[in-house]
Amino acid sequence: MIPVNSPVITQDSKALVAKALEEGWISSAGPYIENFEKEFAGYLGVKHAISVNTGTAALHIALLAAGIGEGDEVIVPAFTMAASWMSIMYCGAIPVFVDVDPDIYTIDPRLIEAAITGKTRAIMPVHIYGHPADMDPILAIAKKHNLKVIEDAAEAHGATYKGRLTGTIGDVNAFSFYANKIITTGEGGMVTTDNDEMADLARRMKDLAHSKAKRFIHDDLGYNYRMTSMQAALGSGQLASISDFLATKTHMAKEYENGLTGIPGLSLPVTRDWATHVYWMYAILIDEQKFGIDKDQFRAKLLAKGVDTRDFFYAPSTQPALTGRGLGGGSFLVTERIAQDGCYLPSGLAITDDQIKVVCETIRGVCPKL
Ligand SMILES: Cc1ncc(COP(=O)(O)O)c(C=O)c1O
Repeated sequence: MIPVNSPVITQDSKALVAKALEEGWISSAGPYIENFEKEFAGYLGVKHAISVNTGTAALHIALLAAGIGEGDEVIVPAFTMAASWMSIMYCGAIPVFVDVDPDIYTIDPRLIEAAITGKTRAIMPVHIYGHPADMDPILAIAKKHNLKVIEDAAEAHGATYKGRLTGTIGDVNAFSFYANKIITTGEGGMVTTDNDEMADLARRMKDLAHSKAKRFIHDDLGYNYRMTSMQAALGSGQLASISDFLATKTHMAKEYENGLTGIPGLSLPVTRDWATHVYWMYAILIDEQKFGIDKDQFRAKLLAKGVDTRDFFYAPSTQPALTGRGLGGGSFLVTERIAQDGCYLPSGLAITDDQIKVVCETIRGVCPKL
């Protein structure tokens, strides 16, 4: 079976994790956390990087640091992973969904202003599958309406928007280091910001909101979202290889493009000229009429031939966690269409050229119109 994801854990990473263990640094105390935060901030060129135990926690903490609370509304793309909207709901706030661009699947800036109400406090663009959202119009709208911008950069380490790295553009931003991400700590996340007050609040809220004046007196309702030193050691090792990992992803996308161009009804990823795409996942659409079978049949046939794929994220209207609370209503035509027609191909960092060739040949083999 060719899996959708298989990570690369470098020898350097393994050595660093072993070193942390040998030295007895296993909790969130000690130098490994500090080093990883410093290195990640240095890589991005931001003032603060605050480690947490998942990308979902990073989003929650970023929202809290931005001052999002009970009854606030936060604008989020209809096409995204559940952690984007669930983290908003953890704050007692309301996710307000906006449809996405039909080519790059990120929030469509032309639709944002219509979703703004007196309760809107923030916009959360998501750099989906590794392609940056169109940030300039989003920043302009945020400025005009005095809203915070929180980038969900969980899938986009190293991607750039007009030369700026994603996760450095919003007021406060979030990354994931889950096993399938561009760099991984197994589970893990990072909050990034240039804002000193937000960084301070993020650091306190991820660690039970201990009072500065007296530890174990708690100023607020905080959370234990701390990362361990073993994860941080793995993260430092992984970060040292990020340019190799990004080159692997670019190469993978080129190989897929070479192997898949010209198949009727198969849409390949689009990259805007203002973006660098990091191809966290190589995402495609199947047009049933032109390809000859629908996406579900396509995925089943590939699986039977040893190629695993994943569905796209599903529309808000199909999520009981939203609809059961009276949320996620409305129609999002682009999201609904791509959720129906989209899936992603094996895209892990360990994928080989031979495996990519097999995937492309298998796809050609199952296309009734070829
Ligand atoms: C867009 C997006 N946001 C947030 C997350 C949450 O990250 P984690 O799985 O580390 O909690 C993910 C994770 O896959 C994601 O894809």
